[in-house]
Amino acid sequence: MLKFGMPRIELLDQNLINQIAAGEVIERPVSVVKELVENALDAGATRITIEIADGGKQLIKVSDNGCGMDAEDLAKCVVRHATSKIKTPEDLFRITTMGFRGEALPSIASVSNMRIISKPQGSAQPYACCLHLQDSAVDRSEKVSAPEGTTVIVQDLFASVPARLKFLKSAETEKSHIRDYLGKLMLSRADVAYTFISDGETALATQGGLAIDPELALRNAIGAVYGSRAAKSLRKVNLVLQDFAVSGYVSDPAVVTGSRSGQVFFVNNRYIISPLLNKAVDAAVSDLVYGGKYPYAVLFIRIAYEQVDVNVHPAKREVRFAESNKVFEAVRAAVRQAYHSYQEPQGRAETGTANLETTPYSAPELNLRYAPSPAANAANIPEYDPMPIQPSAAVFPASNAHPLRILGQANRLFIIALDGEDLLLIDQHAAHERIIYERLKTAERRRDKQLLLVPQNIELGQNLNKVLQENAETLRQFGFEWQDFDGTLLLRAIPLVELKNPVEQFFRETLEDLSEAAGGRSLPEREDYLLYTMACKAAVKDGDILTMTEMQKLIADLLALPNYQTCPHGRPTITYLGRDELARRFKR
Ligand SMILES: Nc1ncnc2c1ncn2[C@@H]1O[C@H](COP(=O)(O)OP(=O)(O)OP(=O)(O)O)[C@@H](O)[C@H]1O
Ligand SMILES: [Mg+2]
Repeated sequence: MLKFGMPRIELLDQNLINQIAAGEVIERPVSVVKELVENALDAGATRITIEIADGGKQLIKVSDNGCGMDAEDLAKCVVRHATSKIKTPEDLFRITTMGFRGEALPSIASVSNMRIISKPQGSAQPYACCLHLQDSAVDRSEKVSAPEGTTVIVQDLFASVPARLKFLKSAETEKSHIRDYLGKLMLSRADVAYTFISDGETALATQGGLAIDPELALRNAIGAVYGSRAAKSLRKVNLVLQDFAVSGYVSDPAVVTGSRSGQVFFVNNRYIISPLLNKAVDAAVSDLVYGGKYPYAVLFIRIAYEQVDVNVHPAKREVRFAESNKVFEAVRAAVRQAYHSYQEPQGRAETGTANLETTPYSAPELNLRYAPSPAANAANIPEYDPMPIQPSAAVFPASNAHPLRILGQANRLFIIALDGEDLLLIDQHAAHERIIYERLKTAERRRDKQLLLVPQNIELGQNLNKVLQENAETLRQFGFEWQDFDGTLLLRAIPLVELKNPVEQFFRETLEDLSEAAGGRSLPEREDYLLYTMACKAAVKDGDILTMTEMQKLIADLLALPNYQTCPHGRPTITYLGRDELARRFKR
């Protein structure tokens, strides 16, 4: 027998139901901003103003110039599960709007004081309708004067739910969450003009105008959100495949940050958090950017709606890809292409996508259904247009115009040269490493080898012999050829690299490096690693004396490469001291 008798089952009242739902979706002021702004976008707004006071705790006001609602719809919009966005179960699997649950407004209303003012576009009535809500139910409505569109005013958030109020952070922290969210939105929907006002001051604003020039609007938005340094260094990403497209921008490998906060991804225009995509960018830049640094990346992924599940979490911030490997590989390849192909006109072999098994894109067959915004139309992805900022052109004036003059070598490591009036300092090892790496990397070169005029007898010892056996297949693929005579090795051929140091040293050091770091890596990773290692070991070293001719050749070879600015490990190869910089140092 139950000690306290059987508990009775009661139906919850509507406000409590809404509060429970709010518990999932409305965590803090930014969640309210997000829901309201998404509604404005779903309503087709091109101008949205977001105003907050006290980090949103006191006031959140979102005004839009979207389609608006008439009095009848306005009364319905705060009813739970009332939505204009889906009608049938099938719709759930091809969501094209940001909202679809029909629960945001009633949820917010259950934990705040809310007013909604709306006037439909083209309304014959001279007035707008204003709905006052109390405990998520309509308290009263009145006629007010307002422009076409909708304004939602949320006051005293969580005032009636002290347990939630307690968890809110300082106004400054709540504001920064909102700023962060809006920043991402400004990038994802650069067509819209946003103004974000906090305690009476404009904190962030964009101009919109995607209809005029989508790419310009996006670059402007990147400038507004991440600053002009990032905006000036952008490289276009654009890869369009059969049922998948990646577009957007990445910053120059020299313009990086110490965290991934400058990397944002949008899947079918929805901002998502995705460690998978972060890793894809990492993989694409691993030979350009030094560890612990990340380029800015604003990437839009368009994928057939059937290929992605957005209904994983009520806040819709995570998605699940049906084929995550393919997505990873395509994003990696797209970003790589942005770094490698921007300087390469037709004729030169592409370098970044050799491993990508994908079908080339043909526009009319595109099997995608996007949100009905111009930004989301794959056919609108403009062809790549070279950015005005091409480092080799801008930073280093064309060398035929100002022939390079080598001044000498310092510390047996740095080459000092003059390009016109400008002083160049080049790290000979890093530069040579990049040159060799690029040469070895292309598929044809990988198979090339050079037979040694005199085969080398090499005594490897037990440890290195083991490394040799373990990596035999990969080493052979890259051009090493040897015969084994009971532990004594006869090295017959090596990859096609110009060596300054003895062959044996190169071979031995390559194996030593492999023994330290290659264990546990997958085959493609091991191949990549071997490339880095060979480039590093074959390159001239810190301490090697170079002749004038060698230095001249090294610089010419380096500057001919698209990625001449960094070594394959991401360290800089070249530094430039212009007249301005020198003048500054001399305080002139
Ligand atoms: N700013 C707005 N302009 C025009 N109509 C709006 C606006 N905000 C809300 N609505 C209408 O109110 C309905 C309910 O909005 P609500 O945010 O509660 O649900 P939803 O957007 O359909 O789904 P979700 O709960 O996933 O956000 C919407 O479907 C839309 O028809
Ligand atoms: Mg909504």
